Amino acid sequence: MARKKITVVGAGNVGATAAQRLADKELGDVVLIDIIEGMPQGKALDLAEPAPIEGYDSRLVGSNGYKESIDSDIVVITSGLARKPGMSRDDLLKTNAGIVGSVTDEIMKYSKNPIIIVVSNPLDAMCHVAMKHSGLSRPRVIGMAGVLDSARMRCFIAEALNVSVENVTAFVLGGHGDTMVPLPRYSTVAGIPLPDLMPKDKIDAICSRTANGGAEIVSLLKTGSAYYAPSSAVVEMVEAILKDKKKILPCAAYLEGEYGINGLFVGVPVKLGSAGIEEIIQINLSTDERASLNRSAAAVQELVDVLGR
Ligand SMILES: NC(=O)c1ccc[n+]([C@@H]2O[C@H](COP(=O)([O-])OP(=O)(O)OC[C@H]3O[C@@H](n4cnc5c(N)ncnc54)[C@H](O)[C@@H]3O)[C@@H](O)[C@H]2O)c1
Repeated sequence: MARKKITVVGAGNVGATAAQRLADKELGDVVLIDIIEGMPQGKALDLAEPAPIEGYDSRLVGSNGYKESIDSDIVVITSGLARKPGMSRDDLLKTNAGIVGSVTDEIMKYSKNPIIIVVSNPLDAMCHVAMKHSGLSRPRVIGMAGVLDSARMRCFIAEALNVSVENVTAFVLGGHGDTMVPLPRYSTVAGIPLPDLMPKDKIDAICSRTANGGAEIVSLLKTGSAYYAPSSAVVEMVEAILKDKKKILPCAAYLEGEYGINGLFVGVPVKLGSAGIEEIIQINLSTDERASLNRSAAAVQELVDVLGR
């Protein structure tokens, strides 16, 4: 059987690190695309050369065009700009929407029915752009945010309790931003609900650190944002799809009435398999949790409205 093809658009920090992790796991051949001349080619070559040492047979190709992406199984979109001084949030939204839209158009010229994983920010709004430009069905456009946000929460819980990260599960719903909704009730340590193991004030502190997890890294790095953990999150999603694992992960999905939300990308638990989003899992929410999810969805709707203006 031929290897799967994964195209990563944007060979910056998240894209290149994702390419490295995809090759390390031998999930398929990787095409790395960026507009900077020579850069994706250089990074792809640099990632191909350790293959004999690391022992992977994934092929890596870099390009400034899309021909090499032909017949991709999965496309990961990480292209976009970070906010520059003097640029408003809405300016950034429109600039990145332009980038994600044109990238999606190019992708669809060469791949008939790929699964697109969107990473570019603002995440939930960029999912709308990719869905509109691709014309793909809703299981095939998926946003990466919840896997990262819940990994951060799991990391903080494990650290606080001094237990293995492998024992910890955590759920984060909602949009990717400070309105995200960490769900301690659905977070467990070896199956034990988190509220049975930790006082409320500690849990609240972890939820707040999780919601500000991206900003914490930005304030330390000063230039640029997180990419090691985001690239791991992308690869977990790619692996679930390519290996048809039917893995339940929090992802941004286009909701059509689920959770009482219609026509909006919002982070919810989904089952990821070879068809993309194979099921949207609906969990019971308390009144407060539902109100937080609705607030988070309203924040996504605001961005989508700006795009429509
Ligand atoms: N969803 C998440 O949880 C999450 C996490 C981390 C980063 N992000 C977002 O992912 C994006 C990438 O982050 P990064 O740290 O890799 O940034 P980066 O600046 O290192 O890389 C972005 C790359 O996109 C390229 N690019 C710009 N326009 C392009 C176009 N039209 N076609 C192809 N490539 C183009 C740039 O040349 C650059 O190399 C940002 O929007 C960031 O905010 C999202």
